[in-house]
Amino acid sequence: MLIELPRQTEVFGSVKIHELQRILKLDSGGFENPMAKDIPFDELKDVLKRFAVIIPTKDEKIHLLDGVLRAIPFDCTVIVVSNSKRKEYDLYKMEKEAIASLHERVQQEIIVIHQKDPELGLAFYDAGYDYLLSKNGLVRNGKAEGMMIGMLLAKSVGKDFIGFADADNYIPGSVREYVLDYAAGFCMSESPYSMVRLHWRYKPKVVEDKLYFKKWGRVSEATNRYLNLLLSTNSGFETGVVVTGNAGEHAMTTKLADIMCYSPGYSVEPYHFVYLFDVFGHKAEKIAYPNAEAAGVEIFQIETLNPHIHEEKGGKHIKNMLLGSLCTIYNSKLCNDYVRSKVLEELGDILDPWEKPPEVTVMPPIGGIDADRFMNVLERKSETLERYEETRR
Ligand code: GDP
Ligand code: CO
Repeated sequence: MLIELPRQTEVFGSVKIHELQRILKLDSGGFENPMAKDIPFDELKDVLKRFAVIIPTKDEKIHLLDGVLRAIPFDCTVIVVSNSKRKEYDLYKMEKEAIASLHERVQQEIIVIHQKDPELGLAFYDAGYDYLLSKNGLVRNGKAEGMMIGMLLAKSVGKDFIGFADADNYIPGSVREYVLDYAAGFCMSESPYSMVRLHWRYKPKVVEDKLYFKKWGRVSEATNRYLNLLLSTNSGFETGVVVTGNAGEHAMTTKLADIMCYSPGYSVEPYHFVYLFDVFGHKAEKIAYPNAEAAGVEIFQIETLNPHIHEEKGGKHIKNMLLGSLCTIYNSKLCNDYVRSKVLEELGDILDPWEKPPEVTVMPPIGGIDADRFMNVLERKSETLERYEETRR
């Protein structure tokens, strides 16, 4: 792969944010130049072997899920966390059948579990981590909750890198690229604590019967603007480095995943930045994670070659998306009165004058959970867990 080198890197405390990098060639010829890095396929493959791709899915078309599954490079472990309906007709059963039949033909390692499995709730309870549980003892609905289940399963199979891919992607080839882009980021990283976030060049929409190659939506544009303002007001130097505030497609080293706090709903992705700024920024009050502090946390932002075309579900409220994103910035320790007033201005047509953005729900790090024990509990008792081994090696 040939990928542009970041033109600039912003350093904020021990967080390094690299400027957006474009993919020049998905397959390259070993030609290095000062502007770009050539990453041989073997190097990418070494990362893929230590990589788990988590697919959160809820009631998606089975054809879409099937395409995504088939697109993920063979060397990765695939972890499907499904919250699909089981009543009326059992969509989860169909998903499992699709996975079983795919595994039979390709022999890739695939793990699948249902989010509402009572044993999952018990395994979290047993681990002393009840932040994902509702009153009935089951894991709550939500993509972020599904992602956290996936991360624990990835840890239990000893993976060093964890990435996410949505199940509703219409272009399997783009999913393959996302995973390779993640791997490229980790090949470039100098720190064991790193994150790769993808930026779409285009997110096409149908406008008056034609495909319109849209670049920005209101929410992502606003999220990035205020994340940058948070950085600028704290460093005293204006920056526009953050372009992936709402990047759903992202990956982390397991070491970083272990020390992150997570927020549910629309806050999940922007909160990654806010958390890292608060904990590792230059105004952090105490050294919480000395190893990460010493090594630094690196964030790569990569622009994919493929456009992002996913299922448009409707019923999405810009209002909730903006609130979920901007409340993370408003409640950041680094947010001063000026940034707060700007955020309130942005939310002017959403909030009443006396209203404040909601507090951010924070789920603490999962690093303390014994992932082997977690998996043991599930393997003994869970009825929805299915684990298909890789049989090639
Ligand atoms: P958008 O792409 O940001 O508009 O969000 P989507 O509605 O497409 O959701 C992203 C991914 O998360 C899709 O693969 C969904 O099927 C999946 N997803 C949504 N809600 C849940 C949930 O409650 N649990 C799990 N496990 N996955 C979910
Ligand atoms: Co989607």
